[in-house]
Amino acid sequence: MKNRVYIKDLKDHVGQEAIIAGWVDVRRDQGKMVFFDMRDMTGKVQCVVLPKSTAMEIAGKIRPEWVLKITGNVNKRPDKNINAGVLNGDIELEVTGIEILNKAETPPFEINENTIAVNEDVRMKYKYLDLRTERMQKNIRMRHKAIKLIRDFLDKEGFIEVETPILTKSTPEGARDYVVPSRIWQGMFYALPQAPQQYKQLLMTGGVEKYFQIAKCMRDEDTRGDRQPEFTQLDLEMSFVKREDVMELNERLLVEIVKTLYPEKKIQELPFPRLSYEEAVKKYDTDRPDLRKGKKNNDLLAFCWVVDFPFFEKTNKSDNPQAEGEWTFTHNPFSRPQEKNIADLLAKKNVANILTDQYDVVLNGSEIGGGSIRNHEPEALRKVFEILGHKTEDIEKNFGHMLHAFRSGTPPHGGIAWGLDRILMILQDEPSIREVIAFPKTGEGRDLMMGAPTEISDKQLKELGIKLSK
Ligand code: AMO
Repeated sequence: MKNRVYIKDLKDHVGQEAIIAGWVDVRRDQGKMVFFDMRDMTGKVQCVVLPKSTAMEIAGKIRPEWVLKITGNVNKRPDKNINAGVLNGDIELEVTGIEILNKAETPPFEINENTIAVNEDVRMKYKYLDLRTERMQKNIRMRHKAIKLIRDFLDKEGFIEVETPILTKSTPEGARDYVVPSRIWQGMFYALPQAPQQYKQLLMTGGVEKYFQIAKCMRDEDTRGDRQPEFTQLDLEMSFVKREDVMELNERLLVEIVKTLYPEKKIQELPFPRLSYEEAVKKYDTDRPDLRKGKKNNDLLAFCWVVDFPFFEKTNKSDNPQAEGEWTFTHNPFSRPQEKNIADLLAKKNVANILTDQYDVVLNGSEIGGGSIRNHEPEALRKVFEILGHKTEDIEKNFGHMLHAFRSGTPPHGGIAWGLDRILMILQDEPSIREVIAFPKTGEGRDLMMGAPTEISDKQLKELGIKLSK
């Protein structure tokens, strides 16, 4: 819009005419004058329509959430009306013209207030309205800033961002896959990635050496406060590194985010304390301990690393009724056993005691990230799959591409992935990751605004060769 001034910049136009555009926030009539606040993405300002103004007729009709273009004079407020410490608390816009750009139905909840107490299903259905609130605007704008900082930081460190496919193959990452039917290959399915794990390792085979991605991950698992079926990772992988290198870089990046974007917050201990899995479980009865001294202080951040995880554990019935008592991996089948345990892995001996070079980063009792040094030697990786009970032909079928890559000159490598939503939830002092995701899903995995998931037409089903069992 030509000549439009952002509301936060009105202070530079005192004594002049200015044009703003935005939403009506609140409206209050006082005698013959009409007062209302206007809001744009940069802030709010009080507008006043004087009794004799030519804008009075339209001003009498406007309602909250209408979209207006306003022409007015930027005036200093009289001393007694100054609202110190608030953006534009010392100015107001004396309205001379109003153009209605779009009217609005009465919103289902107040948008000029914190909506955290509003029924969440209603907020989700009208997410585009909820997004207008100050808190949600802050959350999505801080999310952008954090992601930008991450990209700039890693770029400086020599990383490149590489996109990996969304239509891919089922991976053994631990959760259930979302699957996508293929029209061309009827009866066959793609899987949506639970993480870019295999692709990022193959990028190391591909000579990328330093990869990262702000990656969407999809897991068909029960959702809860810190889990969504679709979430975002900062995913990264590095070649020719040891555990220390990956941990050092990630710690530096986390500290940089806090110091730059959340200077009011205090990191309890630097460098981040480290605990072995065994110590953590013995001392705190969990592998994601909350180390905060004084848990009521929102601005206290207690990071820690948990290391030396067991590689394998026995499955129990609730995980997999068919395979009770079989070995499963605790974190990631592609992790490397610790050097001292390599011989045991190759001999498939003392399986319960094999430790892995896995590291989790924990913040205030929440697992915000995890990664490992990988098993880049094909024979050792094959042994992992054998311990996990895969038959020789299945290993070839499911993981042949990885084994082949690892026979093709793959450097030693390791990486990590952060749960970006979880980190932002904690930094923004929000009770759930849904508050830091622009369009989150409900606990039952529904998008109430779009109405997904939904049935598809018979024509689509037919094209895909799919018959539904009723
Ligand atoms: P992992 O499965 O531990 O590791 O995931 C990494 C981090 O992602 C976050 N996270 C989630 N956040 C929101 N909703 C979910 N459903 C969800 N699931 C996980 C957690 C977790 O720490 N490929 C490996 C990483 C690697 O080894 O490099 C992986 O995905 O904060």
